[in-house]
Amino acid sequence: MDHDPVFKALFHDAMRSDSQMMNLVVKDCEQVFEGLNSLVDVGGGTGTIARVISEAYPQLKCTVFDLPHVVASLPTTGNLNFVGGDLFQHIPSADAILMKLVLHAFGDEECIKILKKCREAIPTQGEKGKVIIIDIVINVEKDEHELTEAKLFFDMLMMVEVSGRERTEQDWQKLFMAAGFSHYKLTPLFGLRSLIEVYP
Ligand SMILES: C[S@@+](CC[C@H](N)C(=O)[O-])C[C@H]1O[C@@H](n2cnc3c(N)ncnc32)[C@H](O)[C@@H]1O
Repeated sequence: MDHDPVFKALFHDAMRSDSQMMNLVVKDCEQVFEGLNSLVDVGGGTGTIARVISEAYPQLKCTVFDLPHVVASLPTTGNLNFVGGDLFQHIPSADAILMKLVLHAFGDEECIKILKKCREAIPTQGEKGKVIIIDIVINVEKDEHELTEAKLFFDMLMMVEVSGRERTEQDWQKLFMAAGFSHYKLTPLFGLRSLIEVYP
């Protein structure tokens, strides 16, 4: 994407469309954001989800964190701001870190490194600190066949395009424990996605 501006624009446009569906999640999952004062959307692209969340919760300070070239020209508005950086180096601190469709693009070792960085960025005492993951969870027993098929196509896509993969709940749990988290709560969302709240 660094080298192909047309592809970069198409990719971020696709992610923006996808993220507009977050309106439904925010409406249905109020308890996920309750009590938080700050949130960083890591790998948040051009900020579509963070914008939905920041408008739904005006008291919540929202930061979109992505590569510098992605957020370079995006202005701060109200309770939404943009920070450029590399998630392997340092993640800005907040009560909660959100990552939507980020970890499935990385292999297990990279995910553990990213999750450790997330853990360093949130409070580890009290009730606030958590990582909110919106991503694919393969569940062959419970999902309809077509849904599993679609998730496995994404698995192949992630394998071919980047060094990532899709994961079962057990795969996710191993990553959380390896990164030092103690427990998690998994909520299936609409379509292919689940929401996982991960606690220190
Ligand atoms: C699949 S997109 C997801 C975008 C957004 N979360 C959404 O769902 O619309 C992955 C995002 O991670 C960002 N990203 C990839 N590597 C990164 C890195 N090392 N540091 C920060 N952001 C990164 C990409 O620029 C991209 O915006």
